[in-house]
Amino acid sequence: MSVVCRSSCSLLLLPCLLLCVLGPSASHAGKLLVIPIDGSHWLSMLGVIQQLQQKGHEVVVIAPEASIHIKEGSFYTMRKYPVPFQNENVTAAFVELGRSVFDQDPFLLRVVKTYNKVKRDSSMLLSGCSHLLHNAEFMASLEQSHFDALLTDPFLPCGSIVAQYLSLPAVYFLNALPCSLDLEATQCPAPLSYVPKSLSSNTDRMNFLQRVKNMIIALTENFLCRVVYSPYGSLATEILQKEVTVKDLLSPASIWLMRNDFVKDYPRPIMPNMVFIGGINCLQKKALSQEFEAYVNASGEHGIVVFSLGSMVSEIPEKKAMEIAEALGRIPQTVLWRYTGTRPSNLAKNTILVKWLPQNDLLGHPKARAFITHSGSHGIYEGICNGVPMVMMPLFGDQMDNAKRMETRGAGVTLNVLEMTADDLENALKTVINNKSYKENIMRLSSLHKDRPIEPLDLAVFWVEYVMRHKGAPHLRPAAHDLTWYQYHSLDVIGFLLAIVLTVVFIVYKSCAYGCRKCFGGKGRVKKSHKSKTH
Ligand SMILES: *[C@@H]1O[C@H](CO)[C@@H](O)[C@H](O)[C@H]1NC(C)=O
Ligand SMILES: *[C@@H]1O[C@H](CO)[C@@H](O)[C@H](O)[C@H]1NC(C)=O
Ligand SMILES: *[C@@H]1O[C@H](CO)[C@@H](O)[C@H](O)[C@H]1NC(C)=O
Repeated sequence: MSVVCRSSCSLLLLPCLLLCVLGPSASHAGKLLVIPIDGSHWLSMLGVIQQLQQKGHEVVVIAPEASIHIKEGSFYTMRKYPVPFQNENVTAAFVELGRSVFDQDPFLLRVVKTYNKVKRDSSMLLSGCSHLLHNAEFMASLEQSHFDALLTDPFLPCGSIVAQYLSLPAVYFLNALPCSLDLEATQCPAPLSYVPKSLSSNTDRMNFLQRVKNMIIALTENFLCRVVYSPYGSLATEILQKEVTVKDLLSPASIWLMRNDFVKDYPRPIMPNMVFIGGINCLQKKALSQEFEAYVNASGEHGIVVFSLGSMVSEIPEKKAMEIAEALGRIPQTVLWRYTGTRPSNLAKNTILVKWLPQNDLLGHPKARAFITHSGSHGIYEGICNGVPMVMMPLFGDQMDNAKRMETRGAGVTLNVLEMTADDLENALKTVINNKSYKENIMRLSSLHKDRPIEPLDLAVFWVEYVMRHKGAPHLRPAAHDLTWYQYHSLDVIGFLLAIVLTVVFIVYKSCAYGCRKCFGGKGRVKKSHKSKTH
């Protein structure tokens, strides 16, 4: 505890006093099993692992032999398991994903291609998971290690199967799951009237047609996700030897550490076991290296623009790259562009191509004027915490939604990377740099985001330790999990009450009718006969 206490007490006294009083001494060193997913997801998990190791816990990370980003580290034990594919296959899948973004195919062909690609890639990763679970020796050695808890990224629920197999309490570390699986598995209410579905490009304020769109997505998204997720249900059923669905796999998690923040995301209900740690990736800042400091120094009063489309996009079609290079040449700022493809022939003097850039450190420099980003969640948080207005070129997945969120808050401009021209990019850059409102809005978001009682990294570490100490957190689990769907919506109660009301109404009606016939039956006839007499 002492590291957390010392480092964050200077920030705000109360929450850490609470932490220090409630937490036991550092003597309880535990064993944590980590099952990450390759890619940027892993990189933001690293900080948590490092902190846990510094606090005396033993961390074991397991990963497929074919991994790109997951490597040996000094602060954890790496154990790799054999899989039926190679590093090249994983690299190829990433490269192809980046390349497919720029395919100018008709819509239907794109859908079919995307579907086939998702199917191919996910079956490759599934085969890796299956190899792990069927590796009796490896699984037995995990069992003998007697871990206290498991930290995993549930984007692919392989870790969730291992958690159930080893009966370990699980902590999830994620941004969000596709098709609202996270909401379903946590039983988190998400009314379609004001919680926009991912990929809908809706905001939290929707008109009638947008709400129709939201509903249609909600009704169809499960079908789209089945191709990726249901094979994990079958695999788990085989391994655990009981019938399990993907929801059954995900829902036992003790804590969901979610890289969300209401400064970025729209306000919505959350559950007791959801902890928001958005911005966890932009804490550690380092001084710039000589090379980059020299670029920044040389940029003069105009400052710099940081440009990265993320690690997935290694190449852009030549025509597009030249358009981009032309637009960049028309602004007075120095542009630092992370790009590994061929150098566009018309690249202007103010644009510097680099294979890699210290994105967060550059954005943190006072001379950063704008950030051109594919609006992946990591980049968006770095833009927010450093207060740099953004020009966003979303490519796939949740990036469209991230861009929409920043755009509706007046902190950036979104461009369609396929349709934009050099003029569009130039105008967008000049707008976010010269129009003061963008800088003001992002600075306001930044100060709201950073005004918090405890740093997201400390919060994440606290909850992992909490789950290790208490062997889970069942008291945070709502009873909703144990209800059937009709009980959850109280349909049985409504039906029962309705039946009573209807019965009472029926009885009252019948007895009235009976009474009426008794009382008025004679009179009616009298009246009638009376009436007929008058005629
Ligand atoms: C992996 O790549 C090799 C060649 O690069 C190919 O022959 C093989 O079929 C690929 N395997 C999978 C599982 O995609
Ligand atoms: C950049 O400028 C700062 C302040 O003027 C100076 O201290 C630093 O040495 C310069 N760095 C480089 C690499 O020129
Ligand atoms: C700056 O941008 C905002 C939001 O797009 C717009 O309303 C405003 O008119 C712009 N100001 C100038 C001076 O162009």
